[in-house]
Amino acid sequence: MCGIFGYVGNQDAVNVTLTGLKKLEYRGYDSAGIAGFNGVSGEVKYCKVVGKISRLEEELNKLDLHLNTAIAQTRWATHGKPNEVNAHPHFDTSGSLALVHNGIIENHDALRKMLVAKGCIFKSETDTEVVAQLIGSLYEGDFLAAVQHALPLLHGAYALVMIHKDYPQQIFAVASAAPLVVGIGEQEAFLSSDVMALKAVVKEVLHLANNEVAVVRADQVETFDASMAKIVKTRETVSSDAEEISKGDFEHYTIKEIFEQPKTLNAAIASRYNEDYGTATLDGLHMDVTELLNVQRILILACGTSWHAGFIGAYMLEDLARIPVQVEISSEYRYKNPIVLPGTYVIAMSQSGETADTIAAVEELKAKGAKILALCNVHGSTLTRLADGCLYLRAGPEIGVCSTKAFTSQVVVLFLFTLLMARMRHMGKAEGQALLQALKPLPDQVQQVLEEANRIQQLAKDYSHYDNFFFLGRRHMYPAALEGALKLKEISYINANGYPAGEMKHGPIALINEQCPTVALCANKAVYTKMLSNLMEVKARNGRILAVASSDVDGLKDIADDIIWVPETIDELAPIPTSVALQLFAYFVARERGCDIDQPRNLAKSVTVE
Ligand code: M6R
Repeated sequence: MCGIFGYVGNQDAVNVTLTGLKKLEYRGYDSAGIAGFNGVSGEVKYCKVVGKISRLEEELNKLDLHLNTAIAQTRWATHGKPNEVNAHPHFDTSGSLALVHNGIIENHDALRKMLVAKGCIFKSETDTEVVAQLIGSLYEGDFLAAVQHALPLLHGAYALVMIHKDYPQQIFAVASAAPLVVGIGEQEAFLSSDVMALKAVVKEVLHLANNEVAVVRADQVETFDASMAKIVKTRETVSSDAEEISKGDFEHYTIKEIFEQPKTLNAAIASRYNEDYGTATLDGLHMDVTELLNVQRILILACGTSWHAGFIGAYMLEDLARIPVQVEISSEYRYKNPIVLPGTYVIAMSQSGETADTIAAVEELKAKGAKILALCNVHGSTLTRLADGCLYLRAGPEIGVCSTKAFTSQVVVLFLFTLLMARMRHMGKAEGQALLQALKPLPDQVQQVLEEANRIQQLAKDYSHYDNFFFLGRRHMYPAALEGALKLKEISYINANGYPAGEMKHGPIALINEQCPTVALCANKAVYTKMLSNLMEVKARNGRILAVASSDVDGLKDIADDIIWVPETIDELAPIPTSVALQLFAYFVARERGCDIDQPRNLAKSVTVE
């Protein structure tokens, strides 16, 4: 949430910073702003706007502003409405210090009162301005000392990037439970919330850990711990897999990413199985055979779409590997006092690897001694650095806020992990080989679903005027129904309820009428006839039914009003073709309704606040 970028060096800092900031726009797009110096004289220049970075760029062009040291931010509003006053950067009362922030300061209210009593004059409603005023009020000629005194007073999560008029060629940075990376170039240096935005510009980076402070100059980066003792941090090489991030010929990143899935699924599967032994071969677990055999229960932690994928994985692991699995939403789990029994293996799932709730839950579990496996898409992200092992999704950068290709890769990687665990226990070779036979054609089956895009678009047009939907499924299709509903909600702003089909009669069926269609996920063989009975109950109440199915036994055609056909596969993998069809459905409904698909209102790609 909120993207921060900074630059000091000989290039035009406005251009460099805007280029970097645009790569971070997935973190929030409520407002944007920049501040900096254009020489050795210390007058802070700034510009802030409401809305996206393109608006900031327009304003900067009008101002003809040139800077050689700059800090900038793209905001996802937490404290205070998304208006110009609340946009970052924020300043102290004297205007000497400018600061951008990602995170939340929980004790902002108490600090604000204390600072107002000391004479600080606030302009905004933000928690960020409190930090600027606090550090400004503690400044007595030594900026590092002011930061050192301020840090223990701040409660919450923060990445802070600051400039001060007395240090016109320096940027100061602090991180605590929020990501911040320093990029080191030739006579120039950068700061970013995400290493991805630095890939094209530097070869070496430093990740700031909790309470570490950096003083960044063009020719030198110094790092300190919270007591301002100098520390030497190891520089990490930025991987050269910087992929070209563009929409290509597609109208949106979201549709491009949906269409990439045959490729990303192939990548997720490639070199991760052994057909002769009917098992998976997973590098990155960092667990030996004995440790894997000692796993007695699995705890899956995730949020949003990643949680839905984990939920599908739980069905697979219990059914096929016979390992008890608990699936938890990280934001709830972190405030439990969890019982972590010996033999518990934690799988933390996150596309971004930066989701604050998942990271906090993992930290708690690490402190309790649990082993952590990350399932993650972003190399070098916070989660991958915390975990004991990591299975990468290999889905490539996912830019659309709505997660699509990462979800299907998560399900496939969990399927492979399940296969490995099952084969190490009771599963015979032939059964393992049969599962692989089902997995291998999956990318082509997804391609077949994509070839139905035109028909799905027609259906989406036809259904786009409804304001309420149910998505129903059973077993593996229950989490897939949650996921289908989430896609529709987040990009088309339609109220969509994902529900286990068998539970409808316990209350929600009261909502069914001709104005509330049901999307029925029927491609799960074990409960197919049960689903049909549930759909009859919907039909009896005049509810329109759009089914997603792979076969028409027992007269589905007579029950459903419309059907999207998907290729047949085993129940464990069936959520994948079905979900791809529902991603297309949500996309085309949103397009029909004229929504901002890649950057839906109120959302951000990476949720780094709790
Ligand atoms: O990066 P993560 O997988 O940890 O993100 C979790 C959720 O924020 C994310 O899946 C969110 O629900 C998406 N917008 C769903 O499309």
